[in-house]
Amino acid sequence: VMHAEDVDLTGLAEEIGTPFYCYASGALETSYRDFADALKDLRATIYYAVKANSNQAVIATLARLGAGADVVSGGELRRALAAGVAADKIVFAGVGKTPREMAEGLDAGILQFNVESLPELQQLSQVAIEKGLKAPVGLRINPDVDALTHRHISTGNANNKFGVDLAQARDIAGRMDDFPGIALHSLSLHIGSQLTEIAPYRAAFRKVVAFFRELQDAGHNLTRLDLGGGLGITYRDETPPDIKAYAAVVGEETAGLDVELAFEPGRLLVGNAGILVTRVLYVKHGSSRRFVIIDAAMNDLIRPMLYQAWHEILPVKAAEAGGTTSPVDIVGPICESTDTFAEQRDLPPVAAGELLAICSSGAYSAVMGSTYNSRALAPEVLVRGTQAAIVRPRQAIEQLIGQDRLPDWLDQAPQLDAEARRRQL
Ligand code: LLP
Repeated sequence: VMHAEDVDLTGLAEEIGTPFYCYASGALETSYRDFADALKDLRATIYYAVKANSNQAVIATLARLGAGADVVSGGELRRALAAGVAADKIVFAGVGKTPREMAEGLDAGILQFNVESLPELQQLSQVAIEKGLKAPVGLRINPDVDALTHRHISTGNANNKFGVDLAQARDIAGRMDDFPGIALHSLSLHIGSQLTEIAPYRAAFRKVVAFFRELQDAGHNLTRLDLGGGLGITYRDETPPDIKAYAAVVGEETAGLDVELAFEPGRLLVGNAGILVTRVLYVKHGSSRRFVIIDAAMNDLIRPMLYQAWHEILPVKAAEAGGTTSPVDIVGPICESTDTFAEQRDLPPVAAGELLAICSSGAYSAVMGSTYNSRALAPEVLVRGTQAAIVRPRQAIEQLIGQDRLPDWLDQAPQLDAEARRRQL
């Protein structure tokens, strides 16, 4: 029987119902420590990209080990602060920060805004001036490299909306006097997510480091270089760059630079520290395929549908060794054909009522959840040894549908009509 650390998943499923996400503290801590250890010879700080998993218990687990936070919205900023991350260990990225979000970041006293366009820089300058402050800024460079990952999660080539190209960045840096509310301290980059090759990193670092030197030589007081996140993990048989090899490339490309480095890993720290536990509802024998219908759906984990992502799916009670497997489609209950976790996946025989674990669901899973088909958000559990804590309870259906309001012209009217009709009858 599969356990999360020392917690039996079948017992947990009985207790809280399915589906639910389950995260392991030990795996979170190990991935953070391993990454920090790989970077130990560099002057580096890790800002956990909380978009990957923004549960405060996860953020707090990493923050206690020394992680700062990389946030992309006012909501994530609030969560990071609420989870105990110090404001001066928060970087704020994103192409569409609103003036209000900028004000929130300034009021909190965050370390740095990673700015992604000229109009954004102008807006941030204005918000800072109104507050009598200077906003600490890292200009995000789009180095125009191919990250060799899925096109939906590639961010560092000229066709992507992220960052500014080198020519424009040079132009902006040359007219910083136009932005009296800005203090340019840093350059940043992030070329994509789930990277499995190291070459795109080297190409991007080389371009940005050369530009960093150019700006330093021109008299800009740049003190930090933010190298983003993006390191891939193994979902199936990918061989992402070894973190030591990655650190070595960083070391080589930044050699001799007097700078503090920043890293923004998300998936690397949390992806393989979580699973989604689901129960088989029915096994349906279609005319050409066998369908295993589970109680998790694309609203709980959309990665297979959105990025054709492959997630390992394992029975929680291991099958007999040497038993047979046969291909099945593992599908959710949502009324769309795309609500399919795996097609023609070899599984040992499974029956209704059995539990399955959808692996590598620690990153971009719960956070991308929705309530499509009026399905409540599934609970999140964090385990530590023999302890299990519900770190987000299951959303109550009342909570979900109770958010709707009827406008005046509909309020009461349907009941009255129904009542009138009954009287007529
Ligand atoms: N920094 C910035 C500026 C980012 O945009 C991202 C991710 C990260 C750091 C963290 O990247 P990571 O280390 O986790 O690869 N929903 C997609 C992934 C989207 C990533 C968006 N940006 C997925 O499920 O694959």
